[in-house]
Amino acid sequence: MNQLKILKTVADVQSWHDSSELPVAAVFTMGALHSGHAYLMTYARERSPKGTRVIASIFVNPTQFEKGADLETYPRTLDEDLQLLIEAGVDAVFIPSVEVMYPDGLVVDETIDPGVIGKILEGKSRPGHFLGMLSVVHKLLSITEPNFTYFGEKDFQQLTLVKKMVHDLIMPVEVVGVPTVRDPDGLALSSRNQKLSESARVLAQNIPAALTMVSNLLIDGKQIEQAEKEGRDFLAKQDGIALDYLEVHAENLIDEPKVGTLRILIAAIIDGVRIIDNIAVEI
Ligand code: PAJ
Repeated sequence: MNQLKILKTVADVQSWHDSSELPVAAVFTMGALHSGHAYLMTYARERSPKGTRVIASIFVNPTQFEKGADLETYPRTLDEDLQLLIEAGVDAVFIPSVEVMYPDGLVVDETIDPGVIGKILEGKSRPGHFLGMLSVVHKLLSITEPNFTYFGEKDFQQLTLVKKMVHDLIMPVEVVGVPTVRDPDGLALSSRNQKLSESARVLAQNIPAALTMVSNLLIDGKQIEQAEKEGRDFLAKQDGIALDYLEVHAENLIDEPKVGTLRILIAAIIDGVRIIDNIAVEI
């Protein structure tokens, strides 16, 4: 089994990076790792050229949280996380402090504009979230200098924005999307699922169920607005689910959705926990 190198400073990462000429694949996380993250690590190794070294990061990024509770209660399980990374055969993990990532205090890079994609869906409900996310991802890419970086489709809008930033800034890294890992009942794995009570966990199954329902309606030829409405009505009937949005978009989240590959995206609050999920559908 691989030795997992633990890196804490920018200099640590740079000397690890310079210790070999082999390509590097990076997977960034906020910890509280689960099998979805493990899959990302495995995927990174298998999808990258042979010999590629995989570096993970664990950093709960304060600037992408709205002030208050969610940041403080975000689950932190470092010992288990390290075990999972060792089992996934990861070569190194970067675990910086807030001071390492934000030496001048919690300021974000205002020059990275999430643009129109940053204003819809999650961006509408969580102002500042994507600017904070892109700022930290930009820093993590600068520090780790990977040839490849892997992001889950689970956070589809995040994946889209990271691809756009890398394209716009001509950063020399390939951004690869990784399919969502789900529990057998369909619920997408998420670190926040740990916060759900048992009954809320059961209720949450309605989220993937609504995605499948809307997908089937579209495949059956229903108009997009009608399919969205039926999906929303279905979730409105479930006591305890506060729907934020259920929307159908074009795959690039910009064009008018018509035919081809579409994305159905949902966000809902259950038991005080924000749950997001999405699937693709071909029509
Ligand atoms: P985090 O929520 O920890 O997710 C880390 C990575 O794991 C992201 O790319 C996310 O999309 C992916 N992921 C989470 N659940 C998944 C699942 N069920 N199946 C497949 N992939 C999954 O996303 C973040 O952290 C942060 O915003 C970060 C990019 C680290 C920047 O702070």
